[in-house]
Amino acid sequence: MSEAHARLQADIDAIRAEALEAASAVEREADLATVRARFVGKKGAFAPLMQALGRLAPEDRPSAGARINVARDAVEAAFESARSRLAEAALAAALERGRVDVTLPGRVVAAGATHPVQQVLDDLVDLLCAFGFELADGPEVETETFNFDLLNMPSSHPARDMQDTFYLEGGLLLRTQTSPVQVRTMQSRQPPVRIIAPGKVFRCDADTTHSPVFHQIEGLWIDRDVTMADLKGTLTHFLRMLYGPDRPVRFRPSFFPFTEPSVELDVWTGSRWMEVLGAGMVHPQVLRNVGYDPDQVQGFAFGLGVDRLAMIRYGITDIRYLWENDARFLRQFPTR
Ligand code: PHE
Repeated sequence: MSEAHARLQADIDAIRAEALEAASAVEREADLATVRARFVGKKGAFAPLMQALGRLAPEDRPSAGARINVARDAVEAAFESARSRLAEAALAAALERGRVDVTLPGRVVAAGATHPVQQVLDDLVDLLCAFGFELADGPEVETETFNFDLLNMPSSHPARDMQDTFYLEGGLLLRTQTSPVQVRTMQSRQPPVRIIAPGKVFRCDADTTHSPVFHQIEGLWIDRDVTMADLKGTLTHFLRMLYGPDRPVRFRPSFFPFTEPSVELDVWTGSRWMEVLGAGMVHPQVLRNVGYDPDQVQGFAFGLGVDRLAMIRYGITDIRYLWENDARFLRQFPTR
């Protein structure tokens, strides 16, 4: 073998070995094309081998040429496998970055709950509807006519002072009681009437048992021959359903301008009596005010303090807790 041929073979083998090592050492996909060009590109390491091949004796060329081809194929294959190695690694890295550990506990999504006052109100409404009362409602912003006058509380009447009223402009006010719904309902329909009207009421008053906004449920039952016995029986039964037969309840004589006679009902809280509702036989003047004939129909009305009942049910000692929206307080009353 000629010396030139032997040197060329050694060069081919060296370049091939160098290229294979370079291919397996490439670490980034972006570098791959540059490194490959260093060997098999136009000006790569294989180009001078071809020139050297041309200078060999003709009888040496076929075997040297074949050696170059084999070497170049091996180098191309090495770069091809480097390419797929890097692509696989890139994919694996992307998968790793986006990996989701399905065994981790989920994020807790805090569920809201119905406010304790609303829970009690809903229960009371359910109970009263089972007694045969229908739902009615009226506006929170009222006129003096509906909130007072037609309820037998003319402006000179001292009873208006019993209810510290929030007055608005234009003769309007925030209703101090749900009783105006009695008047609105009776004005719009004929007896028999048996309705309840739950809603917010407003009084300029605040201490441990009074909040400037609170909830009442008004009840009204008008028909022929509805008597005080119906009032007593209905309300006693109602409180028994609420608190069970053993909870002490008392009727106390009272005064409301729109009922005669009038009573208040107290429930024993365990340490004291708490007033929970006012009631009475609808005053004949109120019936006349809405165009009913008191000689033909009578009935009773009641106004329930919902917030008070919630305090009794949950043993809450200060009504203001109900409106501070302190989550630590409210969390104690999950919706049942
Ligand atoms: N409206 C009265 C109040 O708020 C309660 C009541 C309603 C009394 C119906 C008698 C009849 O104090």
